[in-house]
Amino acid sequence: MTEEASFSAPRGTYDLIPPDSWRWEHLRAVALDDVFAAAGYQPIETPVFEHTEVFSRGVGAASEVVTKQMYTFEDRGGRSLTLRPEGTAPVMRSVLEHGLERGPLPAKLSYAIPMFRQERPQKGRYRQFWQLGIEAIGTESPVVDAEVIEIGMRYLTGVGLDATLMLNSIGHPGDGCRATYLEALTAFLREHENEIAVEDRDRIRLNPLRTFDSKEAATIAVMEGAPLISEHLCSDCRAHFGAVTDLLDVAGVSYTLEPRLVRGLDYYTRTTFEFVASGLGAQDSVGGGGRYDGLAEALGGPRLPGIGFALGADRILLAGGASQVSDHHPRAYVVTLGDEARTAGFRIVSALRARGVAAEMDLGARGMKGQMKDADRSGADLVVIVGESELASGTATIKDLRSGRQIESPLDTIDEDLATGAIDLDA
Ligand code: HAM
Repeated sequence: MTEEASFSAPRGTYDLIPPDSWRWEHLRAVALDDVFAAAGYQPIETPVFEHTEVFSRGVGAASEVVTKQMYTFEDRGGRSLTLRPEGTAPVMRSVLEHGLERGPLPAKLSYAIPMFRQERPQKGRYRQFWQLGIEAIGTESPVVDAEVIEIGMRYLTGVGLDATLMLNSIGHPGDGCRATYLEALTAFLREHENEIAVEDRDRIRLNPLRTFDSKEAATIAVMEGAPLISEHLCSDCRAHFGAVTDLLDVAGVSYTLEPRLVRGLDYYTRTTFEFVASGLGAQDSVGGGGRYDGLAEALGGPRLPGIGFALGADRILLAGGASQVSDHHPRAYVVTLGDEARTAGFRIVSALRARGVAAEMDLGARGMKGQMKDADRSGADLVVIVGESELASGTATIKDLRSGRQIESPLDTIDEDLATGAIDLDA
């Protein structure tokens, strides 16, 4: 940036400006007000920053998000705070703080909020990005797993994406099947340590499951032969997963079983999934989620199982979601000539808006021609013309910009007439 150049948005961030900002608003509204709400999910807003521990304990101190990507800072009181890199740990923190677990369960919550991760920016990967998510907290039932997945799939289809669902179960931790599996996986990784990419070798000790996420060709080749969690699930986890897939079958939701899908956050247990869309290149995951039955305890709460997902709104937009959405147009554009007419026009615009009719007028001091051009550009259906002769006769001229038809209407009642449909230019 040269000295005199103005600022640009920070690296990895971007501005959502019209008309694309309408597509984002559409995505948000269809999620929160329509698809998620129709299934009983209620909106929640948590602060943009949290105590850093919410993430280090919730998401996992060894996860890449926590070790490499968080925007962490100390405030003036010496507290360590972090811009949220994800929404699940904050939502669980909030549920515990407000005792929602003592109310009807599961608590079903939805959000459409920005997240912050200091990743290397590329197409579909930003440092500030938006997630549309739901969390169902307080039940272990496989029905809620199927519900959550079905909602995600329906949403993506509804906004025009052709997404594929990748599905896996990663068992349960502690003394459960995950421990037995991790032993087998670690033994395998140690055996192949020399073939694994050098930058991935730490993972063997720190977090062996993460070796499945590696982008290094050498590691990927080794992982082809790695033992799979699906072969090690205990009977409870197997039954749970079987019930989930049965329910998805019943609902007609198709999926691909992906035994190498482990996901990048450490809180996951049992069901994990990702929604993948074509045309996005390397960053093709438009959403992901799973169970997190141990998260509440990790945050100092009681045992409180949960499941949810987050969809990446930026990637949905990139993949062409909500592409049919156009920007908003006024119904009427009021054109005025002269100061007196401008006052009359302002009253009409205000009265129309009060009646719920979208209306605009010239806010500069343009001439008739300029205003007509602007009316056209605004996409309005009608222009209402108030000039000297109209003022004298107490009427306004209404012109349908599509058909060119014109009628006169009394100035006093024009707002009511337009709002109630008493003026019908198609007649
Ligand atoms: P995640 O897989 O880290 O999961 O993120 C979910 C989605 O957010 C990704 O599939 C992607 O579409 C989008 N996303 C992630 N990072 C970026 C980025 N840097 N730029 C643009 N988009 C991005 C979670 O965050 C979990 N909290 C999801 C969840 C909810 N699990 C259970 N409940």
